[in-house]
Amino acid sequence: MEKILVVEDNLFEAKIIVSVLKGKGYEASLASDGVTGIRELENNSYDLVLTDLIMPDLDGMGVLNHVVNKCPKTKCIILTGHATIKSSVEAIKQGAFDYITKPIASTELLLVVEKALQFKNLEEENIRLKRELKKRYSRTNIIGTSKAMENVFGLIEKVADTDITVLIQGPSGTGKELIARAIHYDSDRGEKPLVVINCGAIPEALLESELFGHEKGSFTGAHKSRVGRFEMANGGTIFLDEIGEMSPALQVKLLRVLQDQRFERVGGTKTIHVDVRIIAATNKNLTVAINNNTFREDLYYRLNVIMIKAPPLKQRKSDIPLLVNYFMKKFQKKDKETITGFSPDAMNAMLEFVWPGNVRELENVIRQLVVLCENPIVEFEDLPEHIQQTEISVTRSEAAQFLEEGLSLDNAVKVYERKLIIEAMEKSNGIKAKAAKLLNIKRTTLVEKMKKQNFSKSVCA
Ligand SMILES: Nc1ncnc2c1ncn2[C@@H]1O[C@H](COP(=O)(O)OP(=O)(O)OP(=O)(O)O)[C@@H](O)[C@H]1O
Ligand SMILES: [Mg+2]
Repeated sequence: MEKILVVEDNLFEAKIIVSVLKGKGYEASLASDGVTGIRELENNSYDLVLTDLIMPDLDGMGVLNHVVNKCPKTKCIILTGHATIKSSVEAIKQGAFDYITKPIASTELLLVVEKALQFKNLEEENIRLKRELKKRYSRTNIIGTSKAMENVFGLIEKVADTDITVLIQGPSGTGKELIARAIHYDSDRGEKPLVVINCGAIPEALLESELFGHEKGSFTGAHKSRVGRFEMANGGTIFLDEIGEMSPALQVKLLRVLQDQRFERVGGTKTIHVDVRIIAATNKNLTVAINNNTFREDLYYRLNVIMIKAPPLKQRKSDIPLLVNYFMKKFQKKDKETITGFSPDAMNAMLEFVWPGNVRELENVIRQLVVLCENPIVEFEDLPEHIQQTEISVTRSEAAQFLEEGLSLDNAVKVYERKLIIEAMEKSNGIKAKAAKLLNIKRTTLVEKMKKQNFSKSVCA
């Protein structure tokens, strides 16, 4: 139940207000002067204070002052006679939510009280959501312990609390957007907006007005003037995704913003200044784009103050089991048995697969398995066919080669045996006992096979 304090020295009026509020289900108490009011506010927490303006000793402005400075979560409404409306306007400037003129009509009173409480709830919800976003997108929620990812985390930590422009480069689905969000939410700007714009998804003709806004009538269809993304991001961060897709004409304009944080709206003459941190991402190699004259070199150097490379999944296989676990938990359905793990064969196939779509593709595979897989442990056969194919395809391409070369089965087996021995010897640094163990044969059998295969001294050493 919301708690309201009424500070009013006219007890007759005060009692009516309190009873109207109680009638509506609020928990309302009364303080008969400013000093008592403040004492009450020091001892209890209130959602809302209604205060008269003119009171002996400490007036309504004094109460308001205390609320604004000492109880910032509490809202304050001023009760005023006609003679003090001017002061009430002043009170709003100082942080009061609204004022109500006397004589007080109960419908108006309840309306304003409800509005103030709603506003307070929205404010709290907003703070809660911001905190949740910060928690969700902090770098601690990016999964990975591989060296490559450790490197990424180190860079995020170093750049977060600066205003340095960052360029994130990496193939599709490697977590570029996640990295950009982590930089923003781990920075001082984390409470301010993060504005994301995908430069590749918006037609060139519209992108300029999206970024910089436009004035009314600046082009056909511009019925109203409009604020652009750079203005929306003021104080916070703008994330320019797929920057490699931006047209050369817009690249020039962006360069100017990077140089002195100034621009004009489309069709406007007023120069707008913004305080925005810029993070850009691309899955293209921009140096190639520079050579092809599709990307400006000067812009590249402005963007690439710090480059973070999002590594492809195939270069950080050790992260695969972690990501698998993470996504299994993420997609687990409440009160429904779903997958809890992978058989060694299945996990092996996941590790061997090349993952052209990187983490996003892995995420989708797990999402699919959670729905489709019947058993708690995912077996090799449960995996999507293209992932099962990887192992087979290695063997098949080799077999195809053998057939093409016209090798007999005996010879092909010999060639394959030789390859396995070389691999095992390399893995065990030439120590035969170890290599034999890897091949699951006796050491003497290995020596015999190597003799038969005419292994050179260098391999046998
Ligand atoms: N290290 C990670 N830990 C957890 N989730 C990840 C990780 N990397 C990527 N993801 C998830 O994979 C998906 C793709 O990530 P994201 O959108 O950041 O990739 P991207 O590099 O921006 O891809 P694209 O180039 O296609 O835009 C998202 O659902 C994201 O949450
Ligand atoms: Mg992306």
